[in-house]
Amino acid sequence: MNTKNTLIPVTLIPGDGIGPEIVESVVLILDAMGAPFEWDRQTAGMAAVDKHLDPLPEPTLNSIRRTGLALKGPLTTPVGGGFRSINVRLREEFKLYANVRPASTLMPGGRYDNVDIVLIRENLEGLYVGFDHYIPIDNDPHGAAISSGVNTRAGSRRIARYAFDYAVKNNRKKITIVHKANILKALTGIFLETALEIAKDYDNKIQVEEKIVDACAMQLVMNPSQFDVILTTNLFGDILSDEIAGLVGGLGLAPGANIGEHAAIFEAVHGSAPDIAGQGIANPMALLSAAAMMCDHVQRSDLGQRIRQAIHDVLVVDHIRSKDLGGNANTKEITAALLSRLQGKH
Ligand code: NAI
Ligand code: MG
Repeated sequence: MNTKNTLIPVTLIPGDGIGPEIVESVVLILDAMGAPFEWDRQTAGMAAVDKHLDPLPEPTLNSIRRTGLALKGPLTTPVGGGFRSINVRLREEFKLYANVRPASTLMPGGRYDNVDIVLIRENLEGLYVGFDHYIPIDNDPHGAAISSGVNTRAGSRRIARYAFDYAVKNNRKKITIVHKANILKALTGIFLETALEIAKDYDNKIQVEEKIVDACAMQLVMNPSQFDVILTTNLFGDILSDEIAGLVGGLGLAPGANIGEHAAIFEAVHGSAPDIAGQGIANPMALLSAAAMMCDHVQRSDLGQRIRQAIHDVLVVDHIRSKDLGGNANTKEITAALLSRLQGKH
């Protein structure tokens, strides 16, 4: 347990696109509320290519090795060619096997009330392992494309254990295991089979159900409040977590944590939003919510709770909202509103 006087070193990666804008807002807020973090600023992504000719430079890796904790802005990944996703490389480097993405209704009267879902995604295996290549046919170098996924018993066990422990610790009642074991019988069958095995250890504590991913995607839209914790594989988790973010106001509010045994990286679910970068209108709330998760992670849920309350008050009581939420407040105005709530000037 950290006492209130010790500073906790955190690697801070501003990132690409809107990254620096929202990171600046979040650091301002955390510092103003006296959060006990000591920032070690490092680069990654396109920003690092410009500076170090490497999208994931050694000083950044060393910093995370030292701190075991990072708050990260979004990083741009070129589609198709170019370098491999830095986000994926970071997860692999630090074995961040659990991706935790909570989403709950923050603004009543929106599309859905009563949504309160935590999606727990396996973060290292599946179709993200990078066995992905083209095979030339005749004169076409891209005559065919092949991708293989890998799910291991050990990896499935580790994430299932994490999800069930998370559910118990956070007073959750039900876990939905999401898979496609009717078609990908081996690849997602091993995940389902292993998760059901682990579930037996939590027999009386957590209710368990399983759903096929396509049916789950539909049911999320029809009746999202039936879901509590969703446990799923890498790619399905990527897709469903964006869908779930969309149920409760979109990407501008959705935080995510990447958790390993020795390190944890906190970030927004959204990307670098090149379409609005530099305009000063990005919503900092997703990254701020990720920072709140980081506070919980270092046993400072008191701070995490204050942040979540401030976000709620600004959205629901003050009705100050950014453009992605249908409002017209810019990043600076939202930051000021959050600060004013946190400093009790109401
Ligand atoms: P994106 O999430 O950056 O943007 C999707 C849409 O949501 C855009 O219209 C954008 O303006 C809007 N949006 C996103 N965050 C917002 C915010 N905080 N406030 C207001 N509006 C916001 O997804 P896109 O365009 O597919 O990806 C852009 C780049 O980001 C790509 O290079 C992608 O690889 C990368 N990316 C990085 C991630 C990360 O670092 N964790 C995660 C997802 C994508
Ligand atoms: Mg994604």
